[in-house]
Amino acid sequence: MSPAPLAVGLIGCGQFGRFLAQVAIGTGRIRIKAACDQDAQRAATLATELSAVACDDIAAVCARPDVDAVLIATPPALHAEHAITALRAGKQVFLEKPMALSEADCAAINQACAASGRQLMVGHVLRWFEPYRAIAAAYRSGQLGRALHGSFWRLEHDFLRIAPWKGQRAGSGGYLFEVAAHELDWLRSVFGEVQSIATAIDKRLPSAHELEDRVALQLGFADGFGVHYLGGTGFSANSHGFCLRFEHATIESDAAFDPARVRITQHGAHPITLDFSQTNPYRAELDAWLDSLAQQQAMPVTGADAAATVALIASAYRAAGW
Ligand SMILES: NC(=O)c1ccc[n+]([C@@H]2O[C@H](COP(=O)([O-])OP(=O)(O)OC[C@H]3O[C@@H](n4cnc5c(N)ncnc54)[C@H](O)[C@@H]3O)[C@@H](O)[C@H]2O)c1
Repeated sequence: MSPAPLAVGLIGCGQFGRFLAQVAIGTGRIRIKAACDQDAQRAATLATELSAVACDDIAAVCARPDVDAVLIATPPALHAEHAITALRAGKQVFLEKPMALSEADCAAINQACAASGRQLMVGHVLRWFEPYRAIAAAYRSGQLGRALHGSFWRLEHDFLRIAPWKGQRAGSGGYLFEVAAHELDWLRSVFGEVQSIATAIDKRLPSAHELEDRVALQLGFADGFGVHYLGGTGFSANSHGFCLRFEHATIESDAAFDPARVRITQHGAHPITLDFSQTNPYRAELDAWLDSLAQQQAMPVTGADAAATVALIASAYRAAGW
Protein backbone atom coordinates (compact mmCIF):
# COMPACT_ATOMS: atom_id res chain seq x y z
CA MET A 1 0.00 0.00 0.00
CA SER A 2 1.43 3.42 -0.94
CA PRO A 3 1.85 5.92 1.93
CA ALA A 4 -0.74 8.68 2.44
CA PRO A 5 0.01 11.91 0.50
CA LEU A 6 1.96 14.54 2.40
CA ALA A 7 -0.41 17.27 3.64
CA VAL A 8 1.02 20.56 2.45
CA GLY A 9 0.32 24.27 2.86
CA LEU A 10 1.28 26.47 -0.09
CA ILE A 11 2.69 29.83 1.02
CA GLY A 12 2.60 32.27 -1.89
CA CYS A 13 0.03 31.77 -4.65
CA GLY A 14 1.74 33.91 -7.28
CA GLN A 15 3.03 32.85 -10.65
CA PHE A 16 5.49 30.27 -9.41
CA GLY A 17 3.52 29.05 -6.37
CA ARG A 18 0.57 28.23 -8.62
CA PHE A 19 2.87 26.30 -10.99
CA LEU A 20 4.62 24.47 -8.14
CA ALA A 21 1.27 23.44 -6.65
CA GLN A 22 0.25 21.81 -9.93
CA VAL A 23 3.56 19.95 -10.14
CA ALA A 24 3.18 18.87 -6.50
CA ILE A 25 -0.27 17.43 -7.13
CA GLY A 26 1.10 15.74 -10.24
CA THR A 27 3.50 13.70 -8.12
CA GLY A 28 0.48 11.93 -6.61
CA ARG A 29 2.32 12.14 -3.29
CA ILE A 30 1.18 15.58 -2.11
CA ARG A 31 -2.21 16.95 -1.13
CA ILE A 32 -2.46 20.76 -0.88
CA LYS A 33 -4.55 21.39 2.24
CA ALA A 34 -4.20 25.16 2.45
CA ALA A 35 -3.28 27.95 0.04
CA CYS A 36 -1.97 31.16 1.59
CA ASP A 37 -1.31 34.56 0.06
CA GLN A 38 -1.42 38.07 1.46
CA ASP A 39 -3.64 38.79 -1.52
CA ALA A 40 -6.79 37.14 -0.15
CA GLN A 41 -8.48 36.98 -3.57
CA ARG A 42 -5.48 35.22 -5.07
CA ALA A 43 -5.43 32.70 -2.22
CA ALA A 44 -9.18 32.11 -2.53
CA THR A 45 -9.03 31.53 -6.29
CA LEU A 46 -6.22 28.98 -6.07
CA ALA A 47 -7.68 27.32 -2.96
CA THR A 48 -10.94 26.75 -4.83
CA GLU A 49 -9.08 25.22 -7.78
CA LEU A 50 -7.10 22.94 -5.45
CA SER A 51 -10.02 22.07 -3.13
CA ALA A 52 -7.96 23.57 -0.30
CA VAL A 53 -8.62 26.05 2.50
CA ALA A 54 -7.71 29.67 1.71
CA CYS A 55 -5.64 31.74 4.19
CA ASP A 56 -4.18 35.24 4.00
CA ASP A 57 -1.78 34.73 6.90
CA ILE A 58 1.10 32.23 7.15
CA ALA A 59 0.52 31.89 10.93
CA ALA A 60 -2.93 30.44 10.24
CA VAL A 61 -1.47 27.80 7.90
CA CYS A 62 1.29 26.92 10.35
CA ALA A 63 -1.22 26.55 13.19
CA ARG A 64 -3.13 23.84 11.30
CA PRO A 65 -2.46 20.36 12.71
CA ASP A 66 -3.56 18.81 9.39
CA VAL A 67 -0.63 20.50 7.56
CA ASP A 68 2.68 18.61 7.82
CA ALA A 69 4.82 20.60 5.41
CA VAL A 70 4.89 23.89 3.52
CA LEU A 71 5.97 24.92 0.03
CA ILE A 72 7.20 28.52 0.25
CA ALA A 73 7.04 30.59 -2.96
CA THR A 74 6.93 34.15 -1.65
CA PRO A 75 9.35 36.97 -2.64
CA PRO A 76 12.89 36.20 -1.38
CA ALA A 77 12.98 39.12 1.06
CA LEU A 78 10.31 37.21 3.04
CA HIS A 79 11.88 33.75 2.84
CA ALA A 80 13.63 33.93 6.21
CA GLU A 81 10.52 35.12 8.08
CA HIS A 82 8.33 32.51 6.39
CA ALA A 83 10.72 29.56 6.68
CA ILE A 84 11.43 30.31 10.35
CA THR A 85 7.71 30.64 11.16
CA ALA A 86 7.01 27.26 9.54
CA LEU A 87 9.97 25.48 11.15
CA ARG A 88 9.06 26.82 14.61
CA ALA A 89 5.57 25.44 14.05
CA GLY A 90 7.10 22.01 13.38
CA LYS A 91 6.50 21.90 9.60
CA GLN A 92 8.79 20.35 7.01
CA VAL A 93 9.87 23.08 4.59
CA PHE A 94 10.46 23.27 0.85
CA LEU A 95 11.73 26.81 0.24
CA GLU A 96 12.08 28.37 -3.21
CA LYS A 97 15.41 29.82 -4.30
CA PRO A 98 17.20 31.98 -3.38
CA MET A 99 17.25 30.78 0.23
CA ALA A 100 17.36 34.39 1.51
CA LEU A 101 18.99 37.71 0.66
CA SER A 102 21.74 37.69 3.29
CA GLU A 103 24.10 35.27 4.96
CA ALA A 104 22.65 36.32 8.35
CA ASP A 105 19.12 35.36 7.26
CA CYS A 106 20.39 31.99 5.97
CA ALA A 107 22.09 31.35 9.31
CA ALA A 108 18.85 32.22 11.16
CA ILE A 109 16.89 29.77 8.97
CA ASN A 110 19.47 27.03 9.54
CA GLN A 111 19.39 27.64 13.30
CA ALA A 112 15.60 27.41 13.33
CA CYS A 113 15.82 24.23 11.27
CA ALA A 114 18.31 22.60 13.64
CA ALA A 115 16.19 23.56 16.66
CA SER A 116 13.00 22.23 15.06
CA GLY A 117 14.28 18.76 14.22
CA ARG A 118 12.55 19.22 10.84
CA GLN A 119 14.09 19.20 7.37
CA LEU A 120 14.58 22.08 4.97
CA MET A 121 15.16 21.83 1.24
CA VAL A 122 15.86 24.79 -1.03
CA GLY A 123 14.52 24.67 -4.60
CA HIS A 124 17.65 24.94 -6.72
CA VAL A 125 15.95 23.14 -9.57
CA LEU A 126 18.70 23.60 -12.16
CA ARG A 127 20.34 20.52 -10.64
CA TRP A 128 17.44 18.52 -12.18
CA PHE A 129 17.19 20.51 -15.44
CA GLU A 130 18.56 19.19 -18.71
CA PRO A 131 21.13 19.58 -20.15
CA TYR A 132 22.71 20.66 -16.84
CA ARG A 133 21.88 17.42 -15.00
CA ALA A 134 23.39 15.24 -17.75
CA ILE A 135 26.52 17.40 -18.06
CA ALA A 136 27.06 17.17 -14.30
CA ALA A 137 26.65 13.38 -14.42
CA ALA A 138 29.07 13.05 -17.36
CA TYR A 139 31.65 15.24 -15.61
CA ARG A 140 31.36 13.27 -12.37
CA SER A 141 31.76 9.99 -14.29
CA GLY A 142 35.14 11.24 -15.53
CA GLN A 143 34.37 10.94 -19.26
CA LEU A 144 34.79 14.68 -19.89
CA GLY A 145 38.18 14.89 -18.19
CA ARG A 146 39.33 18.04 -16.51
CA ALA A 147 37.13 21.17 -16.51
CA LEU A 148 38.98 24.05 -18.17
CA HIS A 149 36.63 26.97 -18.74
CA GLY A 150 32.95 27.83 -18.76
CA SER A 151 31.11 30.73 -20.27
CA PHE A 152 27.46 31.34 -19.31
CA TRP A 153 25.14 34.10 -20.42
CA ARG A 154 21.57 34.88 -19.47
CA LEU A 155 20.53 38.16 -21.02
CA GLU A 156 17.09 39.55 -20.39
CA HIS A 157 14.99 42.03 -22.29
CA ASP A 158 11.43 41.64 -20.95
CA PHE A 159 12.22 40.07 -17.55
CA LEU A 160 10.62 42.85 -15.52
CA ARG A 161 7.18 42.36 -16.98
CA ILE A 162 6.78 39.50 -14.45
CA ALA A 163 6.46 40.88 -10.88
CA PRO A 164 7.23 44.40 -9.53
CA TRP A 165 9.22 43.18 -6.50
CA LYS A 166 11.77 41.61 -8.84
CA GLY A 167 12.79 45.09 -10.00
CA GLN A 168 13.52 46.31 -6.47
CA ARG A 169 16.78 45.33 -4.81
CA ALA A 170 15.05 45.20 -1.43
CA GLY A 171 12.55 42.71 -2.85
CA SER A 172 14.67 40.42 -5.02
CA GLY A 173 18.24 41.22 -3.98
CA GLY A 174 19.17 41.99 -7.59
CA TYR A 175 19.84 40.00 -10.74
CA LEU A 176 22.38 37.64 -9.18
CA PHE A 177 19.94 36.56 -6.44
CA GLU A 178 16.85 36.29 -8.60
CA VAL A 179 18.29 34.88 -11.83
CA ALA A 180 21.98 33.95 -11.66
CA ALA A 181 21.37 32.01 -8.42
CA HIS A 182 20.34 29.10 -10.67
CA GLU A 183 23.63 28.85 -12.58
CA LEU A 184 25.80 29.81 -9.60
CA ASP A 185 24.27 27.09 -7.44
CA TRP A 186 24.70 24.54 -10.23
CA LEU A 187 28.35 25.51 -10.69
CA ARG A 188 29.01 25.13 -6.95
CA SER A 189 27.23 21.78 -6.85
CA VAL A 190 29.37 20.38 -9.70
CA PHE A 191 32.76 22.08 -9.41
CA GLY A 192 32.98 22.98 -5.73
CA GLU A 193 33.42 26.30 -3.99
CA VAL A 194 34.58 29.43 -5.80
CA GLN A 195 38.11 30.52 -4.86
CA SER A 196 38.22 33.96 -6.48
CA ILE A 197 35.66 36.49 -7.76
CA ALA A 198 35.83 39.65 -9.86
CA THR A 199 32.57 41.45 -10.63
CA ALA A 200 31.70 44.30 -12.99
CA ILE A 201 28.26 45.90 -12.83
CA ASP A 202 26.77 48.54 -15.08
CA LYS A 203 23.60 50.45 -14.31
CA ARG A 204 23.19 53.46 -16.55
CA LEU A 205 20.30 52.80 -18.96
CA PRO A 206 17.14 54.75 -18.17
CA SER A 207 14.74 52.38 -16.42
CA ALA A 208 12.03 52.26 -13.77
CA HIS A 209 13.76 49.44 -11.89
CA GLU A 210 16.89 48.95 -9.81
CA LEU A 211 18.36 45.84 -11.40
CA GLU A 212 21.68 45.67 -13.18
CA ASP A 213 21.80 46.50 -16.90
CA ARG A 214 24.80 44.25 -17.10
CA VAL A 215 26.59 42.11 -14.52
CA ALA A 216 29.74 40.20 -15.44
CA LEU A 217 31.44 37.73 -13.12
CA GLN A 218 34.81 36.11 -13.42
CA LEU A 219 34.94 33.09 -11.10
CA GLY A 220 37.97 30.98 -10.26
CA PHE A 221 37.48 27.41 -9.01
CA ALA A 222 39.97 24.89 -7.67
CA ASP A 223 42.29 23.21 -10.19
CA GLY A 224 42.34 26.27 -12.44
CA PHE A 225 38.76 25.95 -13.75
CA GLY A 226 37.47 29.41 -14.65
CA VAL A 227 33.98 30.70 -15.43
CA HIS A 228 32.71 33.85 -17.02
CA TYR A 229 29.05 34.72 -16.38
CA LEU A 230 27.21 37.55 -18.12
CA GLY A 231 23.67 38.56 -17.15
CA GLY A 232 21.42 41.56 -16.77
CA THR A 233 18.24 43.24 -17.87
CA GLY A 234 19.63 45.79 -20.30
CA PHE A 235 19.83 43.73 -23.47
CA SER A 236 17.82 44.10 -26.65
CA ALA A 237 16.78 40.45 -26.80
CA ASN A 238 16.61 37.48 -24.43
CA SER A 239 19.52 35.08 -24.86
CA HIS A 240 20.48 32.19 -22.65
CA GLY A 241 23.34 29.82 -23.31
CA PHE A 242 26.68 28.38 -22.31
CA CYS A 243 29.94 26.99 -23.58
CA LEU A 244 31.76 24.53 -21.31
CA ARG A 245 35.26 23.48 -22.27
CA PHE A 246 36.52 20.23 -20.81
CA GLU A 247 39.71 18.29 -21.52
CA HIS A 248 37.89 15.76 -23.74
CA ALA A 249 34.96 17.79 -25.11
CA THR A 250 33.47 21.23 -25.62
CA ILE A 251 29.75 21.33 -24.83
CA GLU A 252 27.77 24.37 -25.93
CA SER A 253 24.25 25.60 -26.46
CA ASP A 254 22.56 28.86 -27.41
CA ALA A 255 19.22 27.66 -26.00
CA ALA A 256 20.21 26.67 -22.50
CA PHE A 257 17.16 24.57 -21.53
CA ASP A 258 16.80 22.68 -24.82
CA PRO A 259 18.81 19.44 -24.86
CA ALA A 260 18.19 19.14 -28.62
CA ARG A 261 20.30 22.28 -29.17
CA VAL A 262 23.37 20.99 -27.32
CA ARG A 263 26.47 20.67 -29.50
CA ILE A 264 29.31 18.41 -28.42
CA THR A 265 32.77 18.65 -29.99
CA GLN A 266 34.96 15.73 -29.04
CA HIS A 267 38.65 16.34 -28.37
CA GLY A 268 39.81 12.78 -27.86
CA ALA A 269 39.25 9.27 -29.14
CA HIS A 270 36.43 8.43 -26.72
CA PRO A 271 32.88 9.21 -27.83
CA ILE A 272 31.15 11.63 -25.45
CA THR A 273 27.46 11.00 -24.83
CA LEU A 274 25.00 12.88 -22.65
CA ASP A 275 22.10 10.91 -21.26
CA PHE A 276 19.12 13.30 -21.04
CA SER A 277 16.23 12.52 -18.72
CA GLN A 278 12.67 13.05 -20.00
CA THR A 279 11.33 13.74 -16.49
CA ASN A 280 9.96 17.21 -15.74
CA PRO A 281 12.76 18.76 -13.61
CA TYR A 282 10.33 20.32 -11.10
CA ARG A 283 8.69 16.93 -10.67
CA ALA A 284 12.09 15.26 -10.19
CA GLU A 285 13.02 17.92 -7.63
CA LEU A 286 9.84 17.44 -5.59
CA ASP A 287 10.17 13.66 -5.82
CA ALA A 288 13.72 13.96 -4.46
CA TRP A 289 12.37 16.07 -1.57
CA LEU A 290 9.61 13.55 -0.83
CA ASP A 291 12.04 10.60 -1.05
CA SER A 292 14.41 12.25 1.42
CA LEU A 293 11.56 13.01 3.81
CA ALA A 294 10.20 9.46 3.59
CA GLN A 295 13.61 7.87 4.08
CA GLN A 296 14.67 10.45 6.71
CA GLN A 297 17.80 11.16 4.71
CA ALA A 298 19.72 14.39 4.16
CA MET A 299 18.03 16.71 1.67
CA PRO A 300 19.47 16.92 -1.88
CA VAL A 301 19.86 20.70 -1.35
CA THR A 302 20.37 21.43 2.35
CA GLY A 303 20.16 24.79 4.08
CA ALA A 304 23.95 24.80 4.48
CA ASP A 305 24.39 24.15 0.76
CA ALA A 306 21.93 26.86 -0.32
CA ALA A 307 23.45 29.28 2.21
CA ALA A 308 26.81 28.82 0.44
CA THR A 309 25.17 29.94 -2.83
CA VAL A 310 23.82 33.03 -1.06
CA ALA A 311 27.30 33.68 0.39
CA LEU A 312 28.78 33.45 -3.11
CA ILE A 313 26.28 35.98 -4.47
CA ALA A 314 26.86 38.32 -1.52
CA SER A 315 30.64 38.09 -2.17
CA ALA A 316 30.11 38.82 -5.85
CA TYR A 317 28.16 41.99 -5.04
CA ARG A 318 30.74 43.02 -2.43
CA ALA A 319 33.48 42.58 -5.06
CA ALA A 320 31.71 45.22 -7.18
CA GLY A 321 31.02 47.52 -4.24
CA TRP A 322 27.26 47.15 -4.85
N1 LIG B 1 12.66 27.62 -9.33
C1 LIG B 1 12.25 28.38 -10.34
O1 LIG B 1 12.41 28.03 -11.51
C2 LIG B 1 11.54 29.67 -10.02
C3 LIG B 1 10.89 30.37 -11.05
C4 LIG B 1 10.22 31.55 -10.71
C5 LIG B 1 10.22 32.03 -9.41
N2 LIG B 1 10.89 31.31 -8.46
C6 LIG B 1 10.91 31.79 -7.05
O2 LIG B 1 9.60 31.65 -6.51
C7 LIG B 1 9.36 32.69 -5.57
C8 LIG B 1 8.09 33.44 -5.96
O3 LIG B 1 8.27 34.02 -7.25
P1 LIG B 1 7.00 34.37 -8.20
O4 LIG B 1 7.56 34.59 -9.56
O5 LIG B 1 5.91 33.38 -8.00
O6 LIG B 1 6.53 35.79 -7.60
P2 LIG B 1 5.03 36.35 -7.50
O7 LIG B 1 5.14 37.78 -7.16
O8 LIG B 1 4.28 35.97 -8.74
O9 LIG B 1 4.41 35.54 -6.27
C9 LIG B 1 4.72 35.81 -4.93
C10 LIG B 1 3.43 35.72 -4.14
O10 LIG B 1 3.73 35.87 -2.75
C11 LIG B 1 2.66 36.63 -2.17
N3 LIG B 1 3.10 37.22 -0.91
C12 LIG B 1 3.85 38.32 -0.72
N4 LIG B 1 3.99 38.55 0.60
C13 LIG B 1 3.31 37.57 1.26
C14 LIG B 1 3.09 37.28 2.62
N5 LIG B 1 3.62 38.03 3.60
N6 LIG B 1 2.34 36.19 2.93
C15 LIG B 1 1.79 35.43 1.95
N7 LIG B 1 1.97 35.67 0.63
C16 LIG B 1 2.72 36.73 0.29
C17 LIG B 1 2.33 37.66 -3.25
O11 LIG B 1 1.04 38.23 -3.04
C18 LIG B 1 2.41 36.81 -4.51
O12 LIG B 1 1.18 36.22 -4.84
C19 LIG B 1 10.64 33.53 -5.56
O13 LIG B 1 11.50 33.07 -4.55
C20 LIG B 1 11.25 33.25 -6.91
O14 LIG B 1 12.66 33.44 -6.92
C21 LIG B 1 11.52 30.14 -8.73
